[in-house]
Amino acid sequence: MAVRTPFIAGNWKMNLDHLQAVAFVQKLHWTLKEAGHEVGSVEVGLFPPFTDIRTVQTLLDADKIPFSLGGQDLSMKDSGAYTGEISGAFLKKLDCGYVIIGHSERRDYHAETDEVVSAKVQAALRHGLTPVICVGETAADLEEFGASAVPVGQLRVALEGVPSAADIVVAYEPVWAIGSGQAATPEQAQDVCAKLREVIVDVLGADAGERTRVLYGGSVKSGNIASYMREPDVDGALVGGASLVVDEFAAIVRYQKHVGV
Ligand code: 13P
Repeated sequence: MAVRTPFIAGNWKMNLDHLQAVAFVQKLHWTLKEAGHEVGSVEVGLFPPFTDIRTVQTLLDADKIPFSLGGQDLSMKDSGAYTGEISGAFLKKLDCGYVIIGHSERRDYHAETDEVVSAKVQAALRHGLTPVICVGETAADLEEFGASAVPVGQLRVALEGVPSAADIVVAYEPVWAIGSGQAATPEQAQDVCAKLREVIVDVLGADAGERTRVLYGGSVKSGNIASYMREPDVDGALVGGASLVVDEFAAIVRYQKHVGV
């Protein structure tokens, strides 16, 4: 029996302002409802820009829309003189359940090291948020070290000091597959996700390995999602570009209706 509820998460990155967000969320909800989507069979997560979160939270609450909400980043600090930073406490107050940490765009454009990622994981847990810990290798890493060495190393650092009972999500996002249209094969995704699960078991124990969801991200589309979800260690997807198109994202959420799953 599946103990892990599949998780389809849309990382909007720096797209959709708060007005566009309202239209998007309403249309997505309506599209899934019209299609007879069974709420609860798949958890749907939305990760809008910070400036949208209050608006989306209000809409989800008012219209009883069963989507989970999360931030795309948070500060490693709790409060204080840190201009431009967002505390996990603020996200929690807005009913966010999740926060993405260590996305490759943060690691690359904002020089976030494994140690920064680890501090942010601790900050998320302090505020009762489930960190969605992103790991993945670049094309150069892939050539030099193979697929799993870098993500495995990144995850080991991110999990330092995490209690065994903590709720976490891990997302394997090969950098070469993000926004490139060159998705990993299901076998590649499975292979690395299985190795990441081994790290979870090793660091946090067998229970954590059993219940923790490991997602694949990188050029996920409605046409390839089912092939990933067939893999035993892939529990969902972190979707970028395709999460911005209602019909496409709804089709990804409804992957169970695609042939062969
Ligand atoms: P794409 O789906 O656009 O490749 O982006 C993946 C991603 O970075 C999600 O966090």
